[in-house]
Amino acid sequence: MSYPYQLKNFEDYQQAWQHSVTDPEGFWANVADHFYWRRKWDKVLEWDFKQPDVKWFTGAKLNITENCLDRHLGTLGHQPAIIWEPNDPDERHRILTYRELYTKVCQFANVLKNNGVKKGDRVCIYMGMIPELAIAVLACARIGAIHSVVFGGFSAQSIADRIQDAQATLVITCDGAFRGSKDIPLKSVIDDALMACPSVKKVIVCTRTRTPVSMLKGRDVWWEDEIKQVETMGNPPVPAEEMDAEDMLFILYTSGSTGKPKGVVHTCAGYMVYANYTFINTFQYKPGQVYFCTADIGWITGHSYIVYGPLSAGATTLMFEGVPTYPDAGRFWDIVDKFRVNVLYTAPTAIRSLMGFGLGPVNHKDLSSLTTLGTVGEPINEEAWHWYKDQIGKGHCPITDTWWQTETGGIMIAPIAGVTPEKPGYATLPLPGIQPVLVDENGKEIEGNGVNGNLCIKFPWPGMIRTTYGDHERCRTTYFATFENLYFTGDGCLRDEDGYYRITGRVDDVLNVSGHRIGTAEVENAINMHAGVVESAVVGYPHEIKGQGIYAFVISEMHVKDPDLTKKDIMQTVARIIGPIAKPDKIQFVSGLPKTRSGKIMRRILRKIAEGELDNLGDTSTLLDPAVVEEIKRGKL
Ligand code: PRX
Repeated sequence: MSYPYQLKNFEDYQQAWQHSVTDPEGFWANVADHFYWRRKWDKVLEWDFKQPDVKWFTGAKLNITENCLDRHLGTLGHQPAIIWEPNDPDERHRILTYRELYTKVCQFANVLKNNGVKKGDRVCIYMGMIPELAIAVLACARIGAIHSVVFGGFSAQSIADRIQDAQATLVITCDGAFRGSKDIPLKSVIDDALMACPSVKKVIVCTRTRTPVSMLKGRDVWWEDEIKQVETMGNPPVPAEEMDAEDMLFILYTSGSTGKPKGVVHTCAGYMVYANYTFINTFQYKPGQVYFCTADIGWITGHSYIVYGPLSAGATTLMFEGVPTYPDAGRFWDIVDKFRVNVLYTAPTAIRSLMGFGLGPVNHKDLSSLTTLGTVGEPINEEAWHWYKDQIGKGHCPITDTWWQTETGGIMIAPIAGVTPEKPGYATLPLPGIQPVLVDENGKEIEGNGVNGNLCIKFPWPGMIRTTYGDHERCRTTYFATFENLYFTGDGCLRDEDGYYRITGRVDDVLNVSGHRIGTAEVENAINMHAGVVESAVVGYPHEIKGQGIYAFVISEMHVKDPDLTKKDIMQTVARIIGPIAKPDKIQFVSGLPKTRSGKIMRRILRKIAEGELDNLGDTSTLLDPAVVEEIKRGKL
């Protein structure tokens, strides 16, 4: 497969970016030309950021799986599509060629149909990182069902919230999942979740861990039995459902500044074009290379850069079931060595954590196959960047620090590997097609270089969010109402003297813990569910490995007799309500919180205290009870 729109040098980049601004429709029509369309579009773009109402490639008909599978069969049928490395290094890996993946997706699409799933139905997927997860995702897309993948670390309550919001009718899960030394009982978590989800009529359970599970008669069926049934039916062909360009492809829930996660909606054509375009260009992917993204498919990175981007490009995508430190901190490097990985895409938090183990786990691993490195999800500190560059890339691999979001569908600001300049800690320049702006608090554009502001995007791109599921108004107020006629990212950003962008972090009440987005309000709600808690306030603080840690200030009902035990209890409550990723790192019991006279918690002060900046709290004169600040300062952890 050749990639006609691939950029080769900095001049190409500048020209392409300019073209994308002066003639966006022409630019994107050219990119979109290289896909398989059942019917081409009538209009490339119609947009209005006020509503918002954004439509790409209107009138076009397609199915994303024909672009990820069918169209490769003639040329790449025997090439590996997915290489799967299990959690346990002693278990055999699996390789699925494009032909095999196609067959399995069609089989499972038949299973979904046999279980009553129709175009437009919502299907919740809660699985570990096994090939069947990618197969389930693609099978949904094949028949036009809307998938909502929920990360395997979320609790029953979180799953129930997501299923209810989407009114999903079917759930696909596993008996359990292996992650490092842990064995997560996924089916049992689903059983708990489904007590509150009457919309779910069927559950398909794939065998992985052989953890005993209870199967509810009439509702629960085994993946393997269902496949057998399809085989006895003679594997009837599953023509891909013809989808409209703007039909929903998937929902992915993400945290915001309110207590309730929102379902970010992506649609078929624009998302496909954008995931593919950004994958090929950012990583400068060359046919035949082995590409390894260490994310989980439960997050947007896995959707766009394990499944849809690479497969639509005919790439070989490596899926890893486990964690970077199991059985030891050399696991990533073993995988690179074993499969001669060329492109590695991971998170700064993983790099920082592995860096902490020194060079022992890296030495004697053959990393010479690597040509390109990437990072995603959070700012990367210079020390980690250099370690990645020197120790992993051995000084010769470009690093692309990719800034983007669940809502953007794909990479937005990033060096194009080896083509545009890189700078440690900087996402650098927007990809062609992306028009970032910085604005002040009044929405006034801040021009020139050497400036700081709120990062917004002023022109649509094909991969952008279309709505928040079931609540369009929420989409409008969250992203399009803060600043007129702009998409607001929620991030603060610096544009340096060279015009390079550096993301400085969220400007709203959203934390980024190990590259995962967590709303402070969500964590507070969960803490407040603990019987002894009256009120709480959660802020982030710099954490050496996680990037940000969670610091909770908690007012307890009575005097806490055994603080350690109560803290453990609170942590467990949070794990039960949201999932282990949202557990606070620090809990400080306080008798009051700094509030304004109107009752608003002054988080600015709490943030400073959590960051250890005790002498620099700013103006505290508007506080209702300034004495409370002194007490909190004295008790700081
Ligand atoms: O704050 C930014 C941070 O992660 C947020 C998006 O989180 P999520 O939707 O979960 O997607 C993560 C994977 C794309 C952003 O608003 N972020 C993401 N990438 C970077 C980053 N911060 C700094 N540098 C990055 N490269």
